[in-house]
Amino acid sequence: MKKQKDSRRTKEFPVTKERQEFRRIYAETVPYLLQWYDYNRRILPWREEPTPYHVWVSEIMLQQTRVEAVKGYYDRFLMRLPDIAALASAEEEELLKLWEGLGYYSRVRNMQKAARIIVEQYGGEMPADYEKLRALPGIGDYTAGAVSSIAFGLPYPAVDGNVLRVMSRIVCNEADITKEKTKRKLKEDLTTILPARTGDFNQSLMELGAMVCLPNGKPLCEQCPVVHLCRAFHEGCETKLPVKPAKKERRIEKRVVYLISCGGKFLLHHRAKKGLLAGMWEFPNFPEEDELPDLGDKFIIKKRKKAKHIFSHVEWHMEGIWVEAENSGKDISARLIETMRRLGGRKESAEEADEWLFASPEEMKERYPMPSAFEAYYKEVYYENRNGL
Ligand code: ADE
Repeated sequence: MKKQKDSRRTKEFPVTKERQEFRRIYAETVPYLLQWYDYNRRILPWREEPTPYHVWVSEIMLQQTRVEAVKGYYDRFLMRLPDIAALASAEEEELLKLWEGLGYYSRVRNMQKAARIIVEQYGGEMPADYEKLRALPGIGDYTAGAVSSIAFGLPYPAVDGNVLRVMSRIVCNEADITKEKTKRKLKEDLTTILPARTGDFNQSLMELGAMVCLPNGKPLCEQCPVVHLCRAFHEGCETKLPVKPAKKERRIEKRVVYLISCGGKFLLHHRAKKGLLAGMWEFPNFPEEDELPDLGDKFIIKKRKKAKHIFSHVEWHMEGIWVEAENSGKDISARLIETMRRLGGRKESAEEADEWLFASPEEMKERYPMPSAFEAYYKEVYYENRNGL
């Protein structure tokens, strides 16, 4: 909601003396940054052929994920979905599988929604128009700016966390970079100094932030092409910038994860279509271990294993409980499913079937998208099955 309200703001902030000075310094950095970028930019798959689709996919993947981690995902995604029409018509399960491990799965769902609109309204090609791009699901100011400038050469800035950090340091700006107002002012300032090579300039700022002007008090100023213009360096405050409020501590949640094996397969539950990790498959898990359900004497609890997973706002402290059925068969599977369903207080609702199934580790790997929160347990079941422990 807030984002929308802000993006409709048309009135610019007053250009004070201080902002004029910022703009003057930003403008001075341009030739140095472009030259530095020409010689130092990394060879990245999406830079080989920066079509609008390639830039879009890479920029969405790069939100919240490091470049090194993205490379493999990017290649696999494009191999399978080489164009917007293919993305628009992909099965949801396949999309989630291609995104498995990247997290923030609404990103890829929104990409598909946007792809369908692009097919219907723009003949399958992204529009070369900032406002039209900005209006698509999942495309905010940053992504619209990146696609507009890198793929279409249009004069728009692309301000992400890296760019905010670099620019705060260059002019020694102590404004809180988590505030929308700070971002908007920087976008306005950059818009006034963009060179013809806008896409390269925007990427030079991102690249400098990723390779030289590093966060957490570790900038490599001796390698910086604009150190001679950098006010933070001259004033010795580069490690104190940018200013942002301390992050809230993450909430810790205990989860008990059931690894229920029956004839070499493990019980999986399909998460609801809405909410956290929507549509992914998971090992049954519950907030606390109330009381272990009475499974009868045909089941053995084999072992327990602790694991931890960090989401952006929550930490899951998990304990896995291994339950093995001595026999397999339809009625045993059904009884296990019923027990787990009761444990979670789940009911099948009219709108959505509460889906469960038994899958082998190979099927989990090939077919069912599972959140990386369960990776430690997935590895265990995989090795356990292979070694026949
Ligand atoms: N981070 C996000 N987008 C990027 C890009 N185009 N180049 C380098 N780093 C990035």
